[in-house]
Amino acid sequence: MRLGIIGATGWLGAALGTRALAGGWPAAKMALLNRTAPRDAYAPWPGVIWAKNAADLCAQSDVLVLSTRPEDFPQPGFDGAGKLVISFMTAWSLDRLASLCPGARIVRAMPNGAASVGRSFTPWVAGAGLGSDEAAVVRRLLSAMGEEAQVETEAQLDYLSALSGSAYSALMAQAMLADALGRGLPQAVAERAVASVLASGGALAADTSGIDAMIQTYLDYRGVTAAGMQAALKAGLAQSITKALAAATAKARALTERGIGG
Ligand SMILES: NC(=O)c1ccc[n+]([C@@H]2O[C@H](COP(=O)([O-])OP(=O)(O)OC[C@H]3O[C@@H](n4cnc5c(N)ncnc54)[C@H](OP(=O)(O)O)[C@@H]3O)[C@@H](O)[C@H]2O)c1
Repeated sequence: MRLGIIGATGWLGAALGTRALAGGWPAAKMALLNRTAPRDAYAPWPGVIWAKNAADLCAQSDVLVLSTRPEDFPQPGFDGAGKLVISFMTAWSLDRLASLCPGARIVRAMPNGAASVGRSFTPWVAGAGLGSDEAAVVRRLLSAMGEEAQVETEAQLDYLSALSGSAYSALMAQAMLADALGRGLPQAVAERAVASVLASGGALAADTSGIDAMIQTYLDYRGVTAAGMQAALKAGLAQSITKALAAATAKARALTERGIGG
């Protein structure tokens, strides 16, 4: 099975391509396309095929991964008819991709920014006609970037793309850093302290099945952290997150339903 990646040198395209190659995908079975020129990221695999253009890439591939910005798609000469097409793009719904690619099996997947270090959580949804063999190919490819999980509807995919934006942790880090600096802490110390909070907090919270018990333990302790947590909850932290997810989900739904500009 030959894989073709359009946008192979971008953040996600390179994460998928190089990690799949590192995991054993044969270089001779991978065709790559970008806008500019071949990149060093693929230098360890000189056997990969750099396609001349979209028509060349599509002609050489059974599985196509679409990893360009939505506004850069479709490229002239693109032909996904009859293929397994896996799209990472927002704003291109299963229906719009299916009408562009007659007879294709379409999958939409939403890796996140941690794909490049193999720690993405990648939800995906399939359109009509995806068989179990091709689903296994989808799983194998997405697993190269971390965990994958199939969901039932595009609405669920949109919600998860809203939820998985790693920018929420960045917002928290920014607020903590600004507070620490405002209290006169040295920049280097403040940065290391905030980075440690995010790393250790993330690791502790990763066991979501135990999250309620963990929070209750902190609150019951009635210590320093509990005082801060109670103030944050009273100030509306949970409501802020609910509002953020509602806004992000609405934007994702609008993009899926109406395309670019939605
Ligand atoms: N980054 C994320 O965390 C994330 C998460 C979920 C979904 N997505 C979606 O995934 C897609 C890719 O995102 P990204 O962040 O990886 O984008 P990116 O870093 O901007 O990469 C875009 C890629 O597309 C290539 N490209 C642009 N125009 C092209 C053309 N006409 N023909 C061939 N190749 C072309 C670029 O080539 P050059 O390098 O030569 O310019 C580059 O390899 C986007 O649709 C994005 O919305 C991204």
